[in-house]
Amino acid sequence: MIVDTSAANRRMCHFDQHESVWLFGYGSLIFKADFPWLKRRPASILHWQRRFWQGSHDHRGTPEQPGRVVTLVPQRGARCDGLAYLISPAVFEQLDFREKNGYHRFVTELQFADNSRAEGLVYIATKDNPAFLGPASEADIALHISRATGPSGHNVDYLLELATALRELDAQDTHVFGIEAAIESLRAANGA
Ligand code: BEZ
Repeated sequence: MIVDTSAANRRMCHFDQHESVWLFGYGSLIFKADFPWLKRRPASILHWQRRFWQGSHDHRGTPEQPGRVVTLVPQRGARCDGLAYLISPAVFEQLDFREKNGYHRFVTELQFADNSRAEGLVYIATKDNPAFLGPASEADIALHISRATGPSGHNVDYLLELATALRELDAQDTHVFGIEAAIESLRAANGA
């Protein structure tokens, strides 16, 4: 089900008076930075883990056959590695539209590689949004992803581009790499 969160996000004015804001990217924002940014740095956020638990009806799937994309789910003690972008608050209009299917902006603390910290924002699709699909085994998620495609391209390409970008960042993520391995197994089984 498509749920448009862009209007709710426009009312999120926490950083409106700031010249620039840190935005934490953990999914497509890592490998598809098609928005203006001032600085970019590897960063992490604590007590969240990346999961392919959100349905995509508008980018990597369709309303009839949604794809699976990442969101963050709370997990005490976890660390999610990604990329932080310093952006002008005006850029959120574009991002709110791009990430409108269930994602809300939340204030979070970002931690950089040198252990410095900053307050910033992150888009999260929580479990109460109608497009949330929730947990499944890595094999089932891989099968789901292998069958989905949407206006932004194949769901498999999303997974593979994310895995490559995480490796380039030297980021650990057993969930993403496990699904990538399951996709490779499916391809091998199909002779691809
Ligand atoms: C991200 O890459 O941070 C992101 C993922 C899903 C929706 C919005 C942003």
